[in-house]
Amino acid sequence: MTTADNPTEHLADQYVASAYANDRAHVFHSWSAQGALKPVVITGGSGSRIWDDRGTTYLDFSSQLVNVNLGHQHPKMIEAIKAQADRLCTIAPTAANDMRSEAARLIAERAPGDLNMVFFTNGGAEAIENAIRLAKGHTGRMKVLSAYRSYHGSTTGAISLTGEARRFDNEPGMPGAIKFFGPYLYRSVFHATTEQEECERALQHLRDVVIGEGADRVAAIVLETVVGTNGILMPPDGYLAGVRSLCDEFGIMMIADEVMAGFGRCGEWFAVNYWGVTPDLITFAKGVNSGYVPLGGVVISQKIADTFRDRVFQGGLTYSGHPLACATAVASINIFETDGIIEHARMLGTDVIGPELRSFADRHASVGEVRGLGVFWAIELVSNQQTRTPADAATMQTVTSACKSRGLWPFIAANRIHVVPPCNTSVDDTRAGLAIIDEVLSLND
Ligand SMILES: Cc1ncc(COP(=O)(O)O)c(C=O)c1O
Repeated sequence: MTTADNPTEHLADQYVASAYANDRAHVFHSWSAQGALKPVVITGGSGSRIWDDRGTTYLDFSSQLVNVNLGHQHPKMIEAIKAQADRLCTIAPTAANDMRSEAARLIAERAPGDLNMVFFTNGGAEAIENAIRLAKGHTGRMKVLSAYRSYHGSTTGAISLTGEARRFDNEPGMPGAIKFFGPYLYRSVFHATTEQEECERALQHLRDVVIGEGADRVAAIVLETVVGTNGILMPPDGYLAGVRSLCDEFGIMMIADEVMAGFGRCGEWFAVNYWGVTPDLITFAKGVNSGYVPLGGVVISQKIADTFRDRVFQGGLTYSGHPLACATAVASINIFETDGIIEHARMLGTDVIGPELRSFADRHASVGEVRGLGVFWAIELVSNQQTRTPADAATMQTVTSACKSRGLWPFIAANRIHVVPPCNTSVDDTRAGLAIIDEVLSLND
């Protein structure tokens, strides 16, 4: 795209011109040493593309923070926001509201089993906080188990449950947050050599941790159905079912964190549906409405909801079930249905991304492993395929720059390229993005 047909040209140029300077002077960014930042000024987007203030267009292979599942500026989503803004921008959570009720119904109908009730939040971390509050309230127990390879959000409870290093500076956090290792055959801590072995050993280890902590003290096991930011780790067949039966055996609540994996990312409404497992609570956010207005929540099983039939649930948020946010969830779910987005995401995984990534693994020396499903894939880069030594930060920086200079906005996490475009990306755009990654990987061969 040339500067001449850059759609941002008509924008208030004085704001665009000062965006970078004001950002550096006044915006304090997440997860960053502020001094090192040089953010690109993004001025617009459409579908699977975004563009910057210099007229450069990028194919968005990140869906931003893996949330823009319907792509940018979907006209029906914009229409829904405008229509709801005209009717009622906000109302307290104490009232009933048509959009809130409809969003809850649509979400509950797509959740497995008897997960019939929805508590709305503004995002994923708050969803986790309230899921553990519900589990603790229901069981009367205090401990919550989560995986080392996980991210669950940055509020106090959620960051305490997060297993990866972003937890460290927030410690000591919530009491009773206990960690375990989940399955990850490529870097098995269980010295397993097959998926089945990994599954069995990971389940035995989890059982040992539960018993070691006092099974009757454990309120919940929270796990990402497919681990997202920490590697796109698909559970081996049988793992989630094994966690479910362990929870049943000891009266522990199973919380599936689907903030990233849900709403089309895995080619399913809820990723647990792929493995046919019904947890007690599911957390969601991101893809539920592609983040057009902040929204998250918890889908709650009837038995947990019943605990709070006569007993007060001690939790709430001024913006719980915000009408603008819920209107976009309703619009998004309807678009998913009419446009067959779930099926499209599934097809991109099986017919386009999966086969292409497997060919990268065969052809490029720097590719250690590829894995994923739907539009949720990781290419794990290594400096040596035998030792599986992760590619270093300098290599990943080069990969990032090489992608961006070729017009691809990548999602890079540690030594991995996550291939996570919007769920409705066309086959041609998906192939175009993969061709850029292929070319970038060739630079390392
Ligand atoms: C699996 C998972 N859970 C929770 C969160 C936290 O969500 P939020 O950033 O909306 O608070 C994230 C965010 O990336 C996530 O990936």
